[in-house]
Order: sequence, then C-alpha cells, then structure tokens
Amino acid sequence: MTQPDQQAPDLAAELHALLERLDADLAAAHNAEEARAAAAKLLGKKGALTALQKKLGTLPAPERPAFGASLNRAKDDAASRLENRLTTLEREAFERSLSGPPLDPTLPPRGLPHGHAHPLMSTMHDIVDIFGRMGFQVAEGPEVEDDFHNFEALNFPPDHPARDMQDTLFVDAPGNLLMRTHTSPVQIRTMLAQQPPVRVVIPGAVYRHDDDATHSPRFFQVEGLLVDDHTTLADLKGCLTLFVQEFFGADVSVRFRASFFPFTEPSGEIDCRCVVCRGKGCRVCKGSGWLEILGCGMVDPAVFRHVGYDPEKWQGFAFGMGVDRLAMLRHGMSDIRLLYENDLRFLRQFQ
Ligand code: DAH
Repeated sequence: MTQPDQQAPDLAAELHALLERLDADLAAAHNAEEARAAAAKLLGKKGALTALQKKLGTLPAPERPAFGASLNRAKDDAASRLENRLTTLEREAFERSLSGPPLDPTLPPRGLPHGHAHPLMSTMHDIVDIFGRMGFQVAEGPEVEDDFHNFEALNFPPDHPARDMQDTLFVDAPGNLLMRTHTSPVQIRTMLAQQPPVRVVIPGAVYRHDDDATHSPRFFQVEGLLVDDHTTLADLKGCLTLFVQEFFGADVSVRFRASFFPFTEPSGEIDCRCVVCRGKGCRVCKGSGWLEILGCGMVDPAVFRHVGYDPEKWQGFAFGMGVDRLAMLRHGMSDIRLLYENDLRFLRQFQ
C-alpha cells in the first residue's frame, strides 16, 4: 500500500484553481487568438501545467503515477475547454457575418458559367440557317453507308477514277459498307423517300483517309438539293451567290468555274474573293485572290433515273461545301486540327 499522498490535496486544489481561471479567461476571450493565449498560460512551454510537470521528477517515486495522471487529466481537460471555446467563437463569428449589412438585391448576379457551341457547329448552324430562310428543310442520313448510296446511285461507275478522289474508308464487315465520303448519299435517300418538289440541306460528318493541316479524317459538310420543274442554272447561281453573301458579307464577289462531279451536269465550283486579303493575294488564297468555297451543278439525269424521277419532267441543282473550311476561313484559322483537339484555351475564343 502506498502512503496517503501528501501532495495530492494540494495538487487537486491547484489544478482545480488553474482550470477555473482558464474558464474565466476563455469566457473573456473575444477571438481565437485570445482564447489560445489563455490556454497557453497552462499548456504552453512556460505554462503552469508544464511547470508542474517539471516538478514530477523531484517527487518520491511512489507519488509520481498519481501526480502524473492528475496532470494529464488536467491537460486534456484544458485542451478540450479550449476546443469548445474555439467552436463557440467560430459559430458566433459566423452568426455575426450573417447579420451583417442587409443583402442588396440590386447588385448584378455573378452568373453561372455556361458553355457555347463549338465553332464547327455554329458555322454549320449558320449555313443551314441561311438555306432555311430560302425554304430548304433539313435532311439527315447514316454515316455508315453502302456502295449504292455513296457511289453507284450518284453515277460513279464501279471503276471510275472519280472514286479514287474520295479516299474511302471501308468498313471491315460483311455488306460492302463504308464510311460515307460525302453527304451526297442523302440526296439519294431523300429522293427515294419523297416525290418532287425537293428542297433540302443536309448537314453532317463525313470520312476520308486524309490527315494533315487542312484535312481531318472526319470532317463536316453541308449538302443541298433542289428539284422542281423549270429549274435552271440561273436558279443555282442566284441561290448560291446569295448564300455566299449572307455568310461572308454582301460586298464579297463570287465567280463560277467549270468542274466535274459524276452526279451533276454541268458541274461547277464557286470561289469567293479572298476574305483575308480582299483579292490582293495572300497565304490563305495561295496568291490567287480567290477561295474555293463549294462544288455544285445541275443534277445529272442519270441520278434521277436511279431514284425513279422522270428527267424529262424534273430538273434540279445540288451543291456541297466543307464546313471545316468555311469555319477556318471565317475565323482565320490555319490548322484544321485545332478544331478537333478540344483545347478549351482555343475553344473559349468562340464564346
Ligand atoms: N460531294 C462532293 C464532294 O464531297 C461535293 C459536291 C459537289 C456536292 C457538287 C454536290 C455537288 O451536291 O453538286 O466532293
């Protein structure tokens, strides 16, 4: 049995008094800093409890455990009183902040961050919108096509060199499937599905095995098809000149050049005055002063025969343009890959 501890009553009373004083100091503290300073008077390097702890070694061995235990309890007690006070002070500060100056509902809102269309999609939308105002409706078709719709019905004979120009990606599956190389197959699908008159624009993705600064293996086109009676080359010229001027500006002049496409006869291409140098000649127009914008022509009677339209009764014109190219020209971009990298630093410029 250990002797009754001589120190114990004194120590208990002393600890009690210290904690009482701590309570009073904490209650008087106005903020976390003052509360911590009050606790440091006990717990700090030069604190009262720390000083008592130093006495531990001077006590007779049997008395040490009880003394140490009391001290530890007092330290824990002091630390938790400090924590409680800090929590209270924090809550009080928060409540004070809520009861601050009244809300000003006339301040402008911060606004939620919101996204925007990709420059390719907004360009495509603008193109479709211009034709929409001229009475064209939107038609769509599958991106995986068959030879009939992508080539044969469009008057590409099986071994014709015009097929070579299309850099076709074939699908490695039964059924002679391919990734459509242009939006023109939707002309065929539209005509097979309805009788004239036809007036459609066809936006969509197309695929070719081509990959450099101006070619992406997946890119976008907008196709157009108009079929009616008494349709002439003059209608084509008027419609497409209006389109170019709506898209690039009324002061941009256009020129028509003869060209070749299997599904139109005659075929042409439309150039517009370079929107970068206004015709003087620059890097973008490769010094020519003109930019190639789209292919077009009067629908070949052979195409009408493939879809069961009477070529004696109906005429039409068609056109196709690259959305990527138009977006690049409109925004002065030199590398098509920027459009597909999804780099937000680039895309945010088109907000
Ligand atoms: N399909 C052609 C291409 O991708 C573009 C084209 C040219 C479409 C003339 C047409 C057209 O409808 O009449 O190369």
